[in-house]
Amino acid sequence: MSVVFDQMAPSYDEVFSSSPIGKMQRDRVWKYMDEVITSDNPRKVLELNCGTGEDAIYLAAKGCSVLATDYSPAMLEATTSKLAATEFEGRVRVSELDITELSSFHADEKFDIVFSNFGGLNCISREELKTLADAAAEKLNPRGRFIAVVMPKFCMWEFLYFVGRLQFRKGLRRLTASPVPFEFNGSHISISYHNPKPLFSAFSQNFQLKSKAAVGFFIPPSYLNSFFRKKRRWLRSLSKLENFFGRLSYGASAADHYLIDMELKPRRATP
Ligand SMILES: C[S@@+](CC[C@H](N)C(=O)[O-])C[C@H]1O[C@@H](n2cnc3c(N)ncnc32)[C@H](O)[C@@H]1O
Repeated sequence: MSVVFDQMAPSYDEVFSSSPIGKMQRDRVWKYMDEVITSDNPRKVLELNCGTGEDAIYLAAKGCSVLATDYSPAMLEATTSKLAATEFEGRVRVSELDITELSSFHADEKFDIVFSNFGGLNCISREELKTLADAAAEKLNPRGRFIAVVMPKFCMWEFLYFVGRLQFRKGLRRLTASPVPFEFNGSHISISYHNPKPLFSAFSQNFQLKSKAAVGFFIPPSYLNSFFRKKRRWLRSLSKLENFFGRLSYGASAADHYLIDMELKPRRATP
């Protein structure tokens, strides 16, 4: 159901993308993508769950050609109108796609990178991850990459923040085997938190792990923007810590999000 995200679309940038914490977390992802898309590297990107198009425009500005997709018409509208105000319209195509239906999408087109930022994969179940992994393998050129930013089952910041307020259940709310219901303006979705190991195991038949990194281990979750409103210097220090330790995969399973980068395995030649 895209109703929740259709309703979120008008305020998404204000609440997340343009907020200090949202910008810091996205900046971490962009720094990583900058290394992946250096000028001698492939640059045709299929973006899943593109939201309001922040990343599609960033990647286009870096020279990539992007097919930006989402299942929420309102998110896609936001992407299209934001794109119209840039000089990159020619490098970004926008199209509706439900992640769970990737296998039948643009059947003959291949990409160098399949990219999913900030929790799109948390909107699908563990079983659906496997189907997605198989479909993505078919969409990628040799040595293509699947890069995703996903919420794990435990976030240290969340734990400390809520336990400090004696809200123990909230501090551990991600730590459940079943999907967690999420309500927005009376509409509902389920969020599945995926730790790096089980997520990778869904991909491991076709992909090898290149790296993983915390996105939001020192930088807090974005719902703490108001808590940090008058503590900008703290936030900047936390961001510096995150960038300093950022190359380490340490903390990925205890961060607000983690980035996982997987490369398509070479296909065995049939005898
Ligand atoms: C938290 S937002 C992230 C948006 C964007 N990637 C970003 O970095 O800001 C999650 C996005 O996933 C999209 N989404 C959720 N489930 C989806 C699905 N099954 N197929 C396609 N998009 C989905 C939502 O519409 C929403 O735009």
